[in-house]
Amino acid sequence: MSLADAGMRAMEVRDLVAVCALDALCQGSPWTKGQFRDELDRGEDGFCCVVDAEPGALAAYLCAWIAADELTIGTIGVDPARRRCGLARSLVWCAHDWAISRGGAIAHLEVRAGNAAAIALYEALGYRRVGVRRGYYSDNGEDAYLLLADLPGVEVK
Ligand SMILES: CC(C)(COP(=O)(O)OP(=O)(O)OC[C@H]1O[C@@H](n2cnc3c(N)ncnc32)[C@H](O)[C@@H]1OP(=O)(O)O)[C@@H](O)C(=O)NCCC(=O)NCCS
Repeated sequence: MSLADAGMRAMEVRDLVAVCALDALCQGSPWTKGQFRDELDRGEDGFCCVVDAEPGALAAYLCAWIAADELTIGTIGVDPARRRCGLARSLVWCAHDWAISRGGAIAHLEVRAGNAAAIALYEALGYRRVGVRRGYYSDNGEDAYLLLADLPGVEVK
């Protein structure tokens, strides 16, 4: 699936104010503008995309990167008013397709142990739990689950 087919486009520097605003709505520990800028600066090794909602506002965003054959999903968020419409699933699929086209074999990420929605999303996309980082999140001491998926065999439910 191409980004355009999925109603998405590449994230640009001009999006960063809106990306940070949506990230602050979505995440317990939002990224700084500099962190998103660093993702854009990865160039060909990075995959950052957005879904437009209306001028100046975004419905969703994702940042991921590849190193060797490993895709890392760094962050993803969907406007609370636009959830359960398949946006996150489409964003992750696009990241998988991008990684596979570059030789990616596995995808991994960290997710808060209490983030049931995200865990359900990733499990539906074929991810499995492979580890735990105890007390990983500094804002509340929550554990992080390490999830991993085999890319070519990703099972879509
Ligand atoms: C997690 C998140 C990205 C999901 O976005 P979304 O666009 O609502 O997800 P989708 O509509 O693509 O859901 C795809 C599947 O994931 C699962 N899922 C998603 N949200 C769920 C929820 N709240 N409860 C149970 N399952 C859920 C379901 O299997 C769903 O398929 P279905 O709707 O056909 O049942 C969104 O809730 C969000 O932005 N949360 C805050 C930020 C966050 O947690 N990011 C992830 C950090 S690792």
